[in-house]
Amino acid sequence: MGGATALGLKRFCPDAAITVTARHPETLAKYDGKGMQATLDNVAAAAWADIVVLGVKPWLVKEVLEPLLPELKGKLLLSLAAGIPGTQMLEWTASAGPEGVYTVIPNLAIEIGESMTFASEVTGTPATRKTVLDLFGAVGKVQLVNEKQLAAGTMVASCGTAFALRYVRAATEGGVQLGLYPAQALEAALQTVKGAADLVFEHGTHPEQEIDRVTTPGGITIRGLNAMEEAGFSNAVIKGLIIK
Ligand SMILES: NC(=O)c1ccc[n+]([C@@H]2O[C@H](COP(=O)([O-])OP(=O)(O)OC[C@H]3O[C@@H](n4cnc5c(N)ncnc54)[C@H](OP(=O)(O)O)[C@@H]3O)[C@@H](O)[C@H]2O)c1
Repeated sequence: MGGATALGLKRFCPDAAITVTARHPETLAKYDGKGMQATLDNVAAAAWADIVVLGVKPWLVKEVLEPLLPELKGKLLLSLAAGIPGTQMLEWTASAGPEGVYTVIPNLAIEIGESMTFASEVTGTPATRKTVLDLFGAVGKVQLVNEKQLAAGTMVASCGTAFALRYVRAATEGGVQLGLYPAQALEAALQTVKGAADLVFEHGTHPEQEIDRVTTPGGITIRGLNAMEEAGFSNAVIKGLIIK
């Protein structure tokens, strides 16, 4: 996710000076020729940066953060790690005096500038808030939410990438059973989901309004929808979202 974030920000904010870090040189090699600096030295990267983005697994945040603390004064710290309470982040960072600390949950589409990002403020100012919204607004849509909503946003938007693509996979398999070649069915499923989402975004409608427009009374669309619901479609999606 850190890599996708760096690549997306570089592509859509080309003037941004970005340094990526990792533990292994092989990881950094992926960023060769992408217009970014790369180093295995986290502290040097943090010393040089105005904004430090932590993209490690949640259980590594404390250990990776500690050596960076002397470099964070007056800077912006963005943690991509899901599930770390704001109070915990505050406790770990308070002595460093950062200007702002945010938990930021983008999704994988950040790499192509189409993320749905949720950001929650641990501590900050109107100026740092604007920086976070501008930054992630450049690579998709962003919502500033409270911590409780962050968990919900993570399920809908971050895990949601996998959920949406599982629908695409199912639609593709169904399309093949109906007689399309796999590549034809995949293109059809992807473009249909993309078009449906863009339609609702552009019209500002509720999904059901657009659904009504394509469901001829007694027709095959409503029969398909009802068969999906009978098999538990909406229920399955909601169950997947609220799983503990
Ligand atoms: N996956 C998602 O959809 C998603 C969405 C939003 C947020 N997140 C959050 O993003 C975070 C990262 O998840 P991920 O799936 O991207 O993990 P990942 O694939 O394991 O990537 C973690 C990266 O951190 C690097 N790293 C580990 N320890 C390091 C250290 N001490 N110094 C420098 N770099 C270090 C690793 O480098 P090496 O490759 O060299 O080991 C690796 O490139 C998690 O906290 C997760 O909650 C994930």
